[in-house]
Amino acid sequence: MSRAGTAIEIEQVTSLTEPDVAALADLLVAVVDQGASVGFLPPLRPDVARAYWLDAVRAEHVVLLVARRERMIVGTVQLEWSPKKNARHRAEVNKLLVHPNAQRLGIGRKLMVRLEMMAVENGWTTLHLDTREGDRSNDFYRAQGWTRAGVIPRWAESAGGTIDGTVFYYKLLQQ
Ligand SMILES: CC(C)(COP(=O)(O)OP(=O)(O)OC[C@H]1O[C@@H](n2cnc3c(N)ncnc32)[C@H](O)[C@@H]1OP(=O)(O)O)[C@@H](O)C(=O)NCCC(=O)NCCS
Repeated sequence: MSRAGTAIEIEQVTSLTEPDVAALADLLVAVVDQGASVGFLPPLRPDVARAYWLDAVRAEHVVLLVARRERMIVGTVQLEWSPKKNARHRAEVNKLLVHPNAQRLGIGRKLMVRLEMMAVENGWTTLHLDTREGDRSNDFYRAQGWTRAGVIPRWAESAGGTIDGTVFYYKLLQQ
């Protein structure tokens, strides 16, 4: 059960139904409108968001997880593993998104717990990610035990035209 009292199911998806694509597009538009720095600038057109998910589910080297509440997708995260021969132990966490109407209910944490379990099962024991400097997502990652590696300034443009820094984090799942 989530803290909202409704069961949350986490699952890996390798294909998407039409309602799934619509829900993921709505989720991406909503978090971008909310101001999240996740590769897009607002206003994000729904058709652009839809196209993104149709590509994402077909992408090579990517595990796509979704969180469902009453069968509707309310959260998602991706794990992109490295195809390099010397990096078979490494993967990057991307696009952790929880719908604004479902945030702070423990769904992000559940997604990351499942993602880390899958990473260990696959031997991807060095995980990394980045997030905009100053965002509340930094609090989230620190709360999940991620270590801050450092900041690259002027990394990504934000709504309003500023170019903000990004903070890189890592987590070693086996030492
Ligand atoms: C960041 C995000 C994924 C967190 O997901 P969530 O489901 O809301 O987070 P959870 O409820 O699992 O939070 C777990 C813990 O993280 C921390 N945390 C989460 N959101 C927080 C916030 N806004 N401020 C401070 N701490 C926060 C808290 O310690 C929280 O535990 P608590 O609620 O018991 O205090 C979500 O806010 C989101 O989708 N944001 C927009 C997109 C984004 O920025 N994604 C990250 C891109 S790198």
